Amino acid sequence: MSETFTADWLGLREPVDHRSRANDLLDVLGTWWETAGGSRIADLGSGTGSNLRYLAPRLSGVQEWTLVDHDAALLARAEPVGRVTKLERVVGNLAREGLEVARRADLVTGSALLDLVSETWLTRLADTCWSTRCGMLFALNFDGLIEWSDSDPDDRLVQDAVNSHQRRDKWLGPALGPTAGEVAERSFRAVGYRTWRMQTPWRLGAGDAALAQSLVDGWTRAAEEECPAEAGRIRTWAERRQHTVLEGAFVLIVGHVDLLALPGDAASQ
Ligand SMILES: C[S@@+](CC[C@H](N)C(=O)[O-])C[C@H]1O[C@@H](n2cnc3c(N)ncnc32)[C@H](O)[C@@H]1O
Repeated sequence: MSETFTADWLGLREPVDHRSRANDLLDVLGTWWETAGGSRIADLGSGTGSNLRYLAPRLSGVQEWTLVDHDAALLARAEPVGRVTKLERVVGNLAREGLEVARRADLVTGSALLDLVSETWLTRLADTCWSTRCGMLFALNFDGLIEWSDSDPDDRLVQDAVNSHQRRDKWLGPALGPTAGEVAERSFRAVGYRTWRMQTPWRLGAGDAALAQSLVDGWTRAAEEECPAEAGRIRTWAERRQHTVLEGAFVLIVGHVDLLALPGDAASQ
């Protein structure tokens, strides 16, 4: 049921996350942020602060960030950047402390999070955000796409197993997995938000070999857990794919979506 994230893994993905994010959404967010005149930002499931490092230098004005994560060791690595005048680290669960912090924020944000959460929690988050009409930006939600430039007969087996594994309980109830972007957009629209959703896939190549190798390892473990009867096939798939990565002539697309939601009345510019 649980899943832990190491600082090494988060560090490996951070540069790829940052280059993949939807800059177009930031233009819309930036205009609203300046008009709304807020300062308090809640970063949910912050890990070591990757989202803070990306977003803080790109938002105007004084910023007071509160980072929430249940992993105290990850949280301890986060440091203020850019215009951040105050940084609070809250060790806690998204279902309790996360929603409390969200209730006091002008902008609620997160990265690489929504595929881990349940629809129940997401609905509560949408209600919480709407109660204060705060803004919301959740980046890099996995959307289920895993596409290699050359196809392998067992890519589909592994992709389906990984996507099914993604729907397991990851602390907050059955996880949304690849449906996260769609469900989040629907939930925020249902309470009254205007939304913007953009595809933000990782495009990995030879320069991202360490991340690609780590992905293959992670997918192999997940697929074996999901389809133990196919463990042999999955392991030989992994050997072939690690070879693909070592050879260096590959493109691997891993699908993500970014979602921005702003209160309807304020976002009609
Ligand atoms: C995939 S990581 C993303 C971390 C960071 N946002 C980033 O982009 O590098 C998901 C984070 O959510 C945290 N997390 C997951 N479920 C949580 C929960 N129920 N309560 C608090 N934190 C949670 C994990 O500890 C982890 O740091």
